[in-house]
Amino acid sequence: MKSKQLPIFKKTERLILRPLELYDYENWAQAYSSMRPPQNEWDETNWVDSELTLKKFKELLKKQNLLRAQDKFYEFGIFRKDDGMYIGMVTLMDISRAIFQNAYLGYRIFNNHWNNGYASEACEAAIHIAFKDLKLHRIEAGISPQNKASIRVAKNIKLRKESLSPRRLYVHGKWQDMVLYVATCEEFGFKFRQPNKLTAR
Ligand SMILES: CC(C)(COP(=O)(O)OP(=O)(O)OC[C@H]1O[C@@H](n2cnc3c(N)ncnc32)[C@H](O)[C@@H]1OP(=O)(O)O)[C@@H](O)C(=O)NCCC(=O)NCCS
Repeated sequence: MKSKQLPIFKKTERLILRPLELYDYENWAQAYSSMRPPQNEWDETNWVDSELTLKKFKELLKKQNLLRAQDKFYEFGIFRKDDGMYIGMVTLMDISRAIFQNAYLGYRIFNNHWNNGYASEACEAAIHIAFKDLKLHRIEAGISPQNKASIRVAKNIKLRKESLSPRRLYVHGKWQDMVLYVATCEEFGFKFRQPNKLTAR
Protein backbone atom coordinates (compact mmCIF):
# COMPACT_ATOMS: atom_id res chain seq x y z
CA MET A 1 0.00 0.00 0.00
CA LYS A 2 1.56 3.30 -1.10
CA SER A 3 0.26 5.78 1.46
CA LYS A 4 1.40 8.77 -0.62
CA GLN A 5 -1.30 7.95 -3.15
CA LEU A 6 -4.05 7.98 -0.55
CA PRO A 7 -6.38 10.90 -0.03
CA ILE A 8 -5.77 10.98 3.71
CA PHE A 9 -8.15 13.81 4.37
CA LYS A 10 -11.75 13.64 5.40
CA LYS A 11 -14.42 16.22 6.11
CA THR A 12 -17.46 15.64 8.28
CA GLU A 13 -20.23 18.04 9.19
CA ARG A 14 -18.13 19.87 11.81
CA LEU A 15 -14.64 18.41 11.53
CA ILE A 16 -11.65 17.83 9.32
CA LEU A 17 -9.44 14.78 9.79
CA ARG A 18 -5.93 14.97 8.39
CA PRO A 19 -2.32 14.26 9.34
CA LEU A 20 -0.55 16.98 11.31
CA GLU A 21 1.58 19.37 9.24
CA LEU A 22 4.42 21.67 10.23
CA TYR A 23 2.14 24.71 10.15
CA ASP A 24 0.02 23.09 12.92
CA TYR A 25 2.75 23.60 15.50
CA GLU A 26 1.16 26.50 17.38
CA ASN A 27 -2.27 24.91 17.26
CA TRP A 28 -0.80 21.65 18.61
CA ALA A 29 1.15 23.31 21.44
CA GLN A 30 -1.87 25.42 22.36
CA ALA A 31 -4.12 22.32 22.52
CA TYR A 32 -1.88 20.57 25.05
CA SER A 33 -1.12 23.64 27.14
CA SER A 34 -4.79 24.62 27.46
CA MET A 35 -6.12 21.21 28.53
CA ARG A 36 -7.60 20.74 31.96
CA PRO A 37 -5.75 18.34 34.31
CA PRO A 38 -6.44 14.65 33.50
CA GLN A 39 -10.07 13.86 34.24
CA ASN A 40 -9.77 10.08 34.49
CA GLU A 41 -7.22 7.28 34.15
CA TRP A 42 -7.51 7.16 30.35
CA ASP A 43 -7.03 10.89 29.96
CA GLU A 44 -3.26 10.96 29.88
CA THR A 45 -1.13 14.02 29.30
CA ASN A 46 1.47 12.79 26.86
CA TRP A 47 3.25 16.14 26.67
CA VAL A 48 4.32 18.37 29.53
CA ASP A 49 4.62 22.10 28.83
CA SER A 50 8.44 22.07 28.60
CA GLU A 51 8.22 19.50 25.75
CA LEU A 52 5.91 21.56 23.57
CA THR A 53 8.77 22.77 21.40
CA LEU A 54 9.06 23.02 17.63
CA LYS A 55 11.91 20.50 17.79
CA LYS A 56 9.72 17.89 19.53
CA PHE A 57 6.88 18.62 17.13
CA LYS A 58 9.15 18.03 14.13
CA GLU A 59 10.27 14.73 15.67
CA LEU A 60 6.64 13.73 16.13
CA LEU A 61 5.82 14.55 12.49
CA LYS A 62 8.84 12.60 11.28
CA LYS A 63 7.79 9.54 13.27
CA GLN A 64 4.17 9.76 12.11
CA ASN A 65 5.18 10.27 8.47
CA LEU A 66 7.48 7.26 8.58
CA LEU A 67 4.87 4.97 10.11
CA ARG A 68 2.31 6.16 7.58
CA ALA A 69 4.69 5.52 4.69
CA GLN A 70 5.23 2.02 6.09
CA ASP A 71 1.45 1.49 6.20
CA LYS A 72 1.70 0.66 9.91
CA PHE A 73 0.04 3.51 11.78
CA TYR A 74 -2.12 6.40 10.62
CA GLU A 75 -2.85 9.24 12.99
CA PHE A 76 -5.35 11.89 11.99
CA GLY A 77 -5.53 15.19 13.75
CA ILE A 78 -9.11 16.26 14.41
CA PHE A 79 -9.66 19.92 13.53
CA ARG A 80 -12.83 21.90 14.05
CA LYS A 81 -14.03 23.35 10.75
CA ASP A 82 -15.37 26.63 12.08
CA ASP A 83 -12.22 27.87 13.87
CA GLY A 84 -9.52 25.40 12.75
CA MET A 85 -8.80 24.37 16.35
CA TYR A 86 -6.95 21.09 16.90
CA ILE A 87 -9.21 19.18 19.31
CA GLY A 88 -7.94 15.60 19.33
CA MET A 89 -6.79 12.66 17.27
CA VAL A 90 -8.01 9.36 15.93
CA THR A 91 -5.59 6.59 15.02
CA LEU A 92 -5.59 3.41 12.99
CA MET A 93 -2.79 1.49 14.69
CA ASP A 94 -0.76 -1.69 14.36
CA ILE A 95 -2.03 -2.36 10.88
CA SER A 96 -1.87 -5.99 9.95
CA ARG A 97 -2.14 -6.84 6.26
CA ALA A 98 -1.80 -10.33 4.71
CA ILE A 99 -4.68 -12.55 5.85
CA PHE A 100 -5.92 -10.29 8.71
CA GLN A 101 -6.29 -6.78 7.16
CA ASN A 102 -6.99 -5.32 10.59
CA ALA A 103 -6.34 -2.04 12.39
CA TYR A 104 -6.81 -1.07 16.01
CA LEU A 105 -8.83 2.07 16.43
CA GLY A 106 -7.76 4.62 19.04
CA TYR A 107 -9.22 8.04 19.79
CA ARG A 108 -8.79 10.97 22.06
CA ILE A 109 -10.48 14.34 22.39
CA PHE A 110 -8.79 16.98 24.54
CA ASN A 111 -10.77 17.20 27.75
CA ASN A 112 -11.89 20.81 27.30
CA HIS A 113 -13.95 19.64 24.31
CA TRP A 114 -15.63 16.50 25.68
CA ASN A 115 -19.30 15.65 25.27
CA ASN A 116 -19.91 17.53 22.07
CA GLY A 117 -20.13 14.40 19.94
CA TYR A 118 -16.70 15.06 18.40
CA ALA A 119 -15.20 11.60 19.08
CA SER A 120 -18.23 9.84 17.60
CA GLU A 121 -18.17 12.08 14.52
CA ALA A 122 -14.42 11.65 14.00
CA CYS A 123 -14.41 7.89 14.56
CA GLU A 124 -17.18 7.40 12.06
CA ALA A 125 -15.02 9.19 9.49
CA ALA A 126 -11.95 7.16 10.49
CA ILE A 127 -13.86 3.94 9.88
CA HIS A 128 -14.70 5.20 6.43
CA ILE A 129 -11.01 5.90 5.80
CA ALA A 130 -10.10 2.43 7.10
CA PHE A 131 -12.50 0.58 4.86
CA LYS A 132 -12.61 2.80 1.78
CA ASP A 133 -9.14 4.36 1.52
CA LEU A 134 -6.95 1.87 3.35
CA LYS A 135 -9.03 -1.07 2.16
CA LEU A 136 -8.90 -2.83 5.48
CA HIS A 137 -11.29 -5.59 6.35
CA ARG A 138 -11.65 -5.15 10.10
CA ILE A 139 -11.19 -2.59 12.82
CA GLU A 140 -11.10 -3.26 16.50
CA ALA A 141 -11.29 -1.01 19.54
CA GLY A 142 -10.16 -2.51 22.85
CA ILE A 143 -11.91 -0.59 25.62
CA SER A 144 -11.63 -0.87 29.37
CA PRO A 145 -15.03 -1.98 30.74
CA GLN A 146 -14.88 1.03 33.09
CA ASN A 147 -14.37 3.57 30.31
CA LYS A 148 -18.04 4.41 29.91
CA ALA A 149 -17.56 7.41 27.61
CA SER A 150 -15.46 5.36 25.20
CA ILE A 151 -18.03 2.55 25.23
CA ARG A 152 -20.69 5.12 24.35
CA VAL A 153 -18.57 6.23 21.41
CA ALA A 154 -18.19 2.61 20.22
CA LYS A 155 -21.96 2.17 20.43
CA ASN A 156 -22.65 5.51 18.72
CA ILE A 157 -20.57 4.49 15.73
CA LYS A 158 -22.22 1.07 15.61
CA LEU A 159 -19.27 -1.12 16.46
CA ARG A 160 -20.30 -4.63 17.48
CA LYS A 161 -19.40 -5.86 20.96
CA GLU A 162 -17.44 -9.02 20.32
CA SER A 163 -15.96 -10.29 23.56
CA LEU A 164 -14.20 -9.57 26.81
CA SER A 165 -10.51 -10.18 26.32
CA PRO A 166 -8.86 -10.90 29.69
CA ARG A 167 -5.45 -9.34 30.34
CA ARG A 168 -5.29 -7.98 26.80
CA LEU A 169 -3.24 -4.77 27.17
CA TYR A 170 -0.45 -3.71 29.50
CA VAL A 171 -1.62 -0.33 30.75
CA HIS A 172 -0.52 1.62 33.82
CA GLY A 173 1.81 -1.16 34.95
CA LYS A 174 -0.55 -4.10 34.72
CA TRP A 175 -2.33 -6.37 32.25
CA GLN A 176 -5.87 -5.14 31.89
CA ASP A 177 -9.07 -6.67 30.53
CA MET A 178 -10.54 -5.04 27.45
CA VAL A 179 -13.92 -5.33 25.82
CA LEU A 180 -13.50 -5.64 22.08
CA TYR A 181 -15.75 -3.56 19.87
CA VAL A 182 -15.25 -4.45 16.23
CA ALA A 183 -16.56 -4.09 12.71
CA THR A 184 -15.79 -5.67 9.40
CA CYS A 185 -16.18 -3.71 6.21
CA GLU A 186 -19.27 -5.67 5.13
CA GLU A 187 -21.14 -4.33 8.16
CA PHE A 188 -20.54 -0.79 6.88
CA GLY A 189 -21.56 -1.56 3.32
CA PHE A 190 -18.05 -1.92 1.86
CA LYS A 191 -17.11 -4.88 -0.24
CA PHE A 192 -13.65 -6.23 0.55
CA ARG A 193 -11.44 -6.08 -2.49
CA GLN A 194 -8.64 -8.58 -2.30
CA PRO A 195 -5.29 -6.79 -2.25
CA ASN A 196 -2.49 -7.83 -4.58
CA LYS A 197 -0.61 -9.81 -2.00
CA LEU A 198 -2.91 -11.68 0.32
CA THR A 199 -0.22 -13.98 1.61
CA ALA A 200 0.60 -15.14 5.11
CA ARG A 201 3.81 -13.11 5.16
C1 LIG B 1 -13.61 8.78 25.18
C2 LIG B 1 -13.51 10.16 24.55
C3 LIG B 1 -12.69 10.06 23.27
C4 LIG B 1 -14.93 10.64 24.20
O1 LIG B 1 -14.83 11.89 23.51
P1 LIG B 1 -16.12 12.83 23.30
O2 LIG B 1 -15.86 13.75 22.17
O3 LIG B 1 -16.52 13.40 24.58
O4 LIG B 1 -17.19 11.72 22.84
P2 LIG B 1 -18.68 11.97 22.30
O5 LIG B 1 -19.13 13.32 22.74
O6 LIG B 1 -18.74 11.62 20.87
O7 LIG B 1 -19.49 10.85 23.07
C5 LIG B 1 -19.34 10.68 24.47
C6 LIG B 1 -20.52 9.86 25.01
O8 LIG B 1 -20.16 9.36 26.30
C7 LIG B 1 -21.10 9.81 27.26
N1 LIG B 1 -20.37 9.97 28.50
C8 LIG B 1 -19.43 10.89 28.79
N2 LIG B 1 -18.94 10.68 30.01
C9 LIG B 1 -19.59 9.58 30.50
C10 LIG B 1 -19.53 8.86 31.73
N3 LIG B 1 -18.68 9.22 32.70
N4 LIG B 1 -20.34 7.79 31.89
C11 LIG B 1 -21.19 7.43 30.91
N5 LIG B 1 -21.29 8.06 29.71
C12 LIG B 1 -20.48 9.14 29.54
C13 LIG B 1 -21.66 11.08 26.68
O9 LIG B 1 -22.92 11.39 27.23
C14 LIG B 1 -21.78 10.68 25.22
O10 LIG B 1 -22.83 9.78 25.03
P3 LIG B 1 -24.05 10.07 24.00
O11 LIG B 1 -23.40 10.28 22.66
O12 LIG B 1 -24.88 8.86 24.06
O13 LIG B 1 -24.69 11.32 24.50
C15 LIG B 1 -12.88 11.20 25.51
O14 LIG B 1 -13.56 11.11 26.74
C16 LIG B 1 -11.40 10.96 25.75
O15 LIG B 1 -10.56 11.42 24.97
N6 LIG B 1 -11.06 10.22 26.81
C17 LIG B 1 -9.65 9.92 27.14
C18 LIG B 1 -9.03 8.97 26.14
C19 LIG B 1 -9.85 7.71 25.94
O16 LIG B 1 -10.48 7.19 26.85
N7 LIG B 1 -9.83 7.22 24.71
C20 LIG B 1 -10.51 5.99 24.35
C21 LIG B 1 -9.62 4.82 24.66
S1 LIG B 1 -10.41 3.31 24.20
